[in-house]
Amino acid sequence: MIKLENIDTYYGSSHVIQDLSLEVEAGAAVSILGRNGVGKTTTLRSIMGLTPPKDGRVLIGDEEVAGWAPHKIARLGVAYVPAERHIFPALSVEENLKLAEANAEREGAWTLERVYEYFPVLGERRRSGGTKLSGGEQQMLAIGRALMGNPSIMLLDEPSQGLSPILVAKVAQIVSELCKEYGITLLLVEQNFRIALAMAERHYLMGTKSKIQGEVSSQEIIDDQELIKRTLAI
Ligand SMILES: Nc1ncnc2c1ncn2[C@@H]1O[C@H](COP(=O)(O)OP(=O)(O)OP(=O)(O)O)[C@@H](O)[C@H]1O
Ligand SMILES: [Mg+2]
Repeated sequence: MIKLENIDTYYGSSHVIQDLSLEVEAGAAVSILGRNGVGKTTTLRSIMGLTPPKDGRVLIGDEEVAGWAPHKIARLGVAYVPAERHIFPALSVEENLKLAEANAEREGAWTLERVYEYFPVLGERRRSGGTKLSGGEQQMLAIGRALMGNPSIMLLDEPSQGLSPILVAKVAQIVSELCKEYGITLLLVEQNFRIALAMAERHYLMGTKSKIQGEVSSQEIIDDQELIKRTLAI
C-alpha cells in the first residue's frame, strides 16, 4: 500500500533522509520508532509530498507519487496528522470537523456522528473553540478531522505528544479499533514505544539519518525491551 524505495530527502543542502526503504501492506499498522531528529517527521512529509524526495520512489498502491503535489496525494486517500495538529483556533470543534467534511474529496462512511461515536468527548465539546481543548482533545480532533476525508491511509506523527499515559492508551485503542473496522492502513512515527506497541504490529527502528537499524514485531519488543531502549537511547 505504501512503499518507499531508496528515497533521499533534503532540507536545502542538509541530506536528512538517506536511502530509506520501507513498506506498509494494505490494512497493516506499522510504526517507525526513533529518537529526536532521526528523520521521522521528514519521512511522513516525504510520503505526503510536503518535502518531496529528490531521489527514489514513493508508491501509494500502484501510483508512483514522488513529485506530486500534497493535495493530489491526499486525493488518493492519504491523510496526514502532523504533530502540531493544526486545529483552527477560531473555529469550534464541530466547525473544524465540518470544514474537513466540506473539503473531503472522497466519498465514504465518515460523518460527524460517527466521529462523535468513536470520540464522545468531541461530541460533548462540539461548541468549544479549537484551542480551548486539552492536548488530548486536540489530538482526537485532529484525527477526527483526518477521518472526515475518508482516508484509506493515515500517517500519524507522534500521537502521544503532550498526552497523559491514560489518554495515550485510550487514543491508541480507539485508533487501532477504527483502523481495523474501516481497513485503514496506518503508519505512525513515535518516540514512545508503548503507544507504538498499542497501535501497530510491526515496527521499524530508525537511527541517525533515517538509517533503518532493524524491524521488529510487537512481541519482539515485549520480549526484549532493552533492544528498543538501546535504539531509542532512553
Ligand atoms: N525545516 C527544516 N529545515 C532544515 N532542517 C530541518 C527542518 N526540519 C527538520 N530538519 C532537520 O532534519 C532532521 C530530521 O528532522 P525530523 O523533524 O524529520 O526528525 P524527527 O525524527 O521527526 O524528530 P522529532 O522526534 O524531534 O520530531 C533533523 O536534524 C532536523 O534538525
Ligand atoms: Mg518529528
